[in-house]
Amino acid sequence: MTGSTLVLGALLTASPAPTVIPEPVSLHLRGGPSFVFSRTTSLENDGKSAAPAFLKEMLSRSAGISLGGKSRSNRVVFKLVTLGGQLPPNWYSLKVTQHEVLVQYAEETGAFYAVQTLRQLLPKEIDSPIRVSGVQWSVPQVEIEDYPRFQWRGMMLDCSRHFFPVSFIKKTLDNCAMMKLNVFHWHLVDDGGWRLEIKKYPNLTKFGAWRVDTGEVWPGGGWNFGNLQFCGEDGAKKYGGYYTQDQVKDIVRYAAARHITIVPEIEMPGHSLGAVVSYPEIMCENVPPADKPGKSVSNVYCAGSDKAIAFLEEVLSETMQLFPSKFIHIGADEVTKTYWHNCPLCQDRMKKEGLKDENELQSWFVKHFDNFLAQHGRRLVGWDEILEGGLAPGATVMSWRGIDGGIEAAKQGKDVVMSPTSHCYFDYSYQSISTEHVYGWNPVPAALNATEAKHVLGGQYNVWTEWIPTESHCEEMQFPRALAMAEDLWTPPARKDWSDFSRRLAAWLPRLDELGITYMMPVPTVPFTTLFFSGSVQVKCNAPTGLSQTLRYTTDGTVPNSASKAYTGPLTVKKPCTVTFAYVNSHGVAGGVAKVDCRNSLRTELPSLDSGVTVQQYLLTGEPSTIPDLTNMKPTATTVAPLPTEGARPRDAKFAVRWSGYIRIPTAGAYTFSLKSDDGSRLWLGDALVVDNDGPHGAVEKSGTAWLPAGLYPFDVRWFDQGGANSFSVSVAGPGQAKGPIPAKWLFHYSG
Ligand code: ACM
Ligand code: ZN
Repeated sequence: MTGSTLVLGALLTASPAPTVIPEPVSLHLRGGPSFVFSRTTSLENDGKSAAPAFLKEMLSRSAGISLGGKSRSNRVVFKLVTLGGQLPPNWYSLKVTQHEVLVQYAEETGAFYAVQTLRQLLPKEIDSPIRVSGVQWSVPQVEIEDYPRFQWRGMMLDCSRHFFPVSFIKKTLDNCAMMKLNVFHWHLVDDGGWRLEIKKYPNLTKFGAWRVDTGEVWPGGGWNFGNLQFCGEDGAKKYGGYYTQDQVKDIVRYAAARHITIVPEIEMPGHSLGAVVSYPEIMCENVPPADKPGKSVSNVYCAGSDKAIAFLEEVLSETMQLFPSKFIHIGADEVTKTYWHNCPLCQDRMKKEGLKDENELQSWFVKHFDNFLAQHGRRLVGWDEILEGGLAPGATVMSWRGIDGGIEAAKQGKDVVMSPTSHCYFDYSYQSISTEHVYGWNPVPAALNATEAKHVLGGQYNVWTEWIPTESHCEEMQFPRALAMAEDLWTPPARKDWSDFSRRLAAWLPRLDELGITYMMPVPTVPFTTLFFSGSVQVKCNAPTGLSQTLRYTTDGTVPNSASKAYTGPLTVKKPCTVTFAYVNSHGVAGGVAKVDCRNSLRTELPSLDSGVTVQQYLLTGEPSTIPDLTNMKPTATTVAPLPTEGARPRDAKFAVRWSGYIRIPTAGAYTFSLKSDDGSRLWLGDALVVDNDGPHGAVEKSGTAWLPAGLYPFDVRWFDQGGANSFSVSVAGPGQAKGPIPAKWLFHYSG
């Protein structure tokens, strides 16, 4: 009896697979009873690590456990080891048995990361802001050994275009620490405003930190600084703010305690409207006067002015006093050099220094500050434009316009940080950069050999905030993509696996809820996008369990909100309608939608049908970007073809083709129709749009799945091309039938 009870006990406590992100270098789940934190749990910390304080703080806040117990058989041990200096930087190991949590570390950073991992092995309620009862504070028996792949695991936050308060910066640092990111690149200066107190130049924050609040998210659009107008702190309707030096010191300490280096960015010589409106004398000569006070047509420092250079050296000196970071970022991207071309001081500088064009003047400028920072024991980082006109000797390149800048710099033997727009620009939509796409990123370009690859310090994601005015929006653009990026930057490529990451991510979303982090909600999926029925039909949505947002639906075509009905299982629909599903969060915000078109069956029988579909060709004019309404247009040719195929098209023109007739569905079931076309195409059965692949694009495939009772349905496929490359194909997969062309024997037209 005892034996079998023991076996049963072990089975009952079998732990689900851990959901640590980023995935550790090695992780072995042992069977057996978990370690359970309790009031008697003791702590040994002989190496006097600061890391247990973070664990204590979480346990005391959420679990009411102090780690002040005396138990010898239920203890947490932090142990400093050296192992002859053979361990990788930031290494730690975590061994959990029923009676002990053993953390071994060689550096404080390792101990801190062990705590972050331990936190993720605990129930999600460990991240609750308030005390939670009824939770067993258990950790499964595991053995973990872990260390990061890259030394630069970063994020950039733009606090110029929109200003974020100290509390949000600290929350963001907490989030970084949780994901084991270790660089916070703080974009403090740009056209949207100057955000750092500089004692020597008080106008920067008295004036340059405050712009006229137009109520628009980003006046002027994009990085068109020309429409921004500054009003100063006395402005009646102002937007902005800045960080005082005391606040910055506090934030730098806060970050350091979390093993995060803050790399400040003082943009120069471009993107500097906040500075040049505050001190117009640091701009070029011959800049036309602004049409309003607080405006300027130039956002560039004068590279020929000794006054501007001295100003920037003094600004950097105060910056270095505030930020201990080895790296100081000077921006240097997207510099409009027109005013340098027209400025006598800049032209003098070029003559004196033997510079042949304004690109070389920019290179001279960057080299000057590279040298200046080096004299102060620091290193310069800049965006990849610093390669133009010759790279400064000590510079590190941040590759953003793709990966070529990073490749070029690494081949020159210079350090690089990879942050290409293709994967790292988290101000871009999830449609253009999905979480899965981010997860597929390898920061080391394939073009680098092993020696060159060593110059890749790591990577970072960037949150530019032109279009991101609020904290929750800022978080939603980061999460869950940031978790994928964290794994790109930490985990060895051989240990990465998208399907396993997806499993861990599903468990993370409720944890993000505990932490009060807004994230992009998952888009629900439906087995059928179109249902033809008579009588009634069941409508289903694939609803993952365990999410804290509610899956809701409407039947009137509107997007669900918090008042909409919750989805608890298949719905019975009796009348034609569109069912729209979406996750709705606690603020009433819906994520992406999934729609199901419910239609009355159209089974028509007509007396005389002939094989093949009617083909109508149309020539288009102008700049077509969508399938035009063909109903009032005269076709240039009308024929009959056995199938809808590309062959029907008029060559080398802007055109549309329509194939119409009837399709006989042989047996009831689910039919997935796919259209692959360049440019857009659509497929209708009756008036139900089953596949929507419209719009100007290359060869893209889209599908829709319809539930179809057997019978005859009106069939209509349309394709357009706006000129240039074109292609088209249609396919179907039905019950027991693999994806392939529509069988010709299914297609008919009515010949009267
Ligand atoms: C940048 O996105 N302009 C660095
Ligand atoms: Zn100038």
